[in-house]
Amino acid sequence: MTLTDKPIPQPLHWHVLGAGAMGCLWACAMAMQARDGASGRAQVSLLLRHQAALLSYPGHIKSSAMAQPVVMPAHTTGGNVVDLPGQIDNLFVATKAQDTLPALTGVAKYLTTDCRIVLLQNGLKVQREVSQQFGAERVFCLSTSHGAWLRAPFDVVHAGNGETWLGQLTPASDDSAARQQALLAVLPAQQLNIRIDDDIAARLWRKLAINCAINALTVIHDCRNGELLRIPAARQTLTRLCHEISALLQAIPAAPAIDDLFTQVQQVLMVTTDNISSTLQDVRRARDTEIDHLNGYLCELAAQHGLACPVNKAVLQQMRVLESRAKQAAQHTINQRPLT
Ligand code: PAF
Repeated sequence: MTLTDKPIPQPLHWHVLGAGAMGCLWACAMAMQARDGASGRAQVSLLLRHQAALLSYPGHIKSSAMAQPVVMPAHTTGGNVVDLPGQIDNLFVATKAQDTLPALTGVAKYLTTDCRIVLLQNGLKVQREVSQQFGAERVFCLSTSHGAWLRAPFDVVHAGNGETWLGQLTPASDDSAARQQALLAVLPAQQLNIRIDDDIAARLWRKLAINCAINALTVIHDCRNGELLRIPAARQTLTRLCHEISALLQAIPAAPAIDDLFTQVQQVLMVTTDNISSTLQDVRRARDTEIDHLNGYLCELAAQHGLACPVNKAVLQQMRVLESRAKQAAQHTINQRPLT
């Protein structure tokens, strides 16, 4: 019996790390799922990285998908205060890509040796790093198209119903198929429309390629997704980016070939025409973006394989300038506020 072929300990207890929109949405869905053959519901605990977040936590999460607020305990895992009672058997990580490794390190000593780690990050870099560091057998990756946003802290709106794919970066085997099935059985598969993907890596690569084409450009042109097709300069760069990303994927040994990237990107832009991309939302709120895990990662891979990527590099550079300008402007606004 390998590490994660052991039955998932009952009663089921999920720890959800990260209380952004997705963390809140999943925590509620997990808490409310009625488990086949089990009399109780899954127990869910929220892991918050900052003491201030714990102090502001009202003791429950509100979700637009639930009639009632969902009561669940919360604990801090960061800073000097660590108040986690017991160990973690099932960890769901909904932090941003760049926060994932530090957040996992913060809880590492609580993870049981059989702990399942479920990742819901953009890109592919952190999934590879966590699989390497924590053991690929126990790491599961999700790719989701559900949309969610926070009306207020711990108050999530499930804005767009989508689908979720689950898989592992380990080579396909009977063991990995059994592990994925066992996990699927304890996830809110119906509420969040979760299915297994035998080639989750290819799906994550495709999503990475699409995000690399769209996200930074929406910041550079400060526009909604659909406008990238209408602003001539944006459309021109989009075409060049798609061309370069396709060529890079073709040349990177682990990546799948995507011939029709521009068509796929166009489809996503049409479906999400009025959306403000996650990266533009971050810049507008002067928050760290995931750009190092998107175009930044692609440029890193290109360098590793001796490939040129001038369009991605230029976009990355522009992004860094715009990101730091947004942070400076926010800092300036704070400094201008009268002292009370
Ligand atoms: O990051 C995002 O916002 C989304 O993945 C996408 C596809 C760009 C749609 O807004």
